[in-house]
Amino acid sequence: MRSRDQKSSKSTVGVIVMKLFLDTANVEEIRQAAAWGVIEGVTTNPSLAARENEEFSVILPRICDLVNGPISAEVIALDHEGMIAEARQLSKIHANVNIKIPITPEGMQAVKVLAKEGIKTNVTLVFSANQALLAARAGAGYVSPFIGRLDDIGHDGVALVEEIVTLFNIHGLATEVIAASIRHTAHVPQVALAGAHIATVPFKVLKQMFNHPLTESGIERFLADWEKAVKK
Ligand code: E4P
Repeated sequence: MRSRDQKSSKSTVGVIVMKLFLDTANVEEIRQAAAWGVIEGVTTNPSLAARENEEFSVILPRICDLVNGPISAEVIALDHEGMIAEARQLSKIHANVNIKIPITPEGMQAVKVLAKEGIKTNVTLVFSANQALLAARAGAGYVSPFIGRLDDIGHDGVALVEEIVTLFNIHGLATEVIAASIRHTAHVPQVALAGAHIATVPFKVLKQMFNHPLTESGIERFLADWEKAVKK
């Protein structure tokens, strides 16, 4: 029996129901995806924030207003004291903000302190099961294995997600697994089947998930048949 606190990702029968988060700091993308009703959280990182024209301190509260779910904001400091100070500031912005911290010894020192303070963390830049295990032991709320970056170097990102989920389940670790660095639509069902609790997807991939040529031609045919019938 798993001992996860799966309020967020488990159905009433105890089955994991993978959620979709949006991986962006772009407010317009978040606005659109939130309106579609398919996302339940947002992840950002310094690279994504740097693409935007406004300060992240302005963007983050807007994101929190648009999506009523976990919002990841990443620290820039590399020492644990700096990370903790940034995390405390970011977490004051909204109760839904969780803190992205890289998997380093300093990072895990920060995670431990923040967990004791009730500040949820998302340990990022995870590329191995050992890193995920260390993050969970330190008290991370989430771990984010970067599957696309692993695929880029000829490794199997989805297999890592499956390995981490299995490891956490066997050992009753409550940390949730966010499949990150998703590159294409096929990754999404793959990580769902691997047992990820969350897939964080770029806006482009989220939009592509709607597409199927038979859906498009089916809509066209229904409309054409309707028009013909109306004209009779
Ligand atoms: C998620 O938390 C990361 O910010 C993101 O998925 C990284 O994706 P990338 O490898 O496409 O930069």
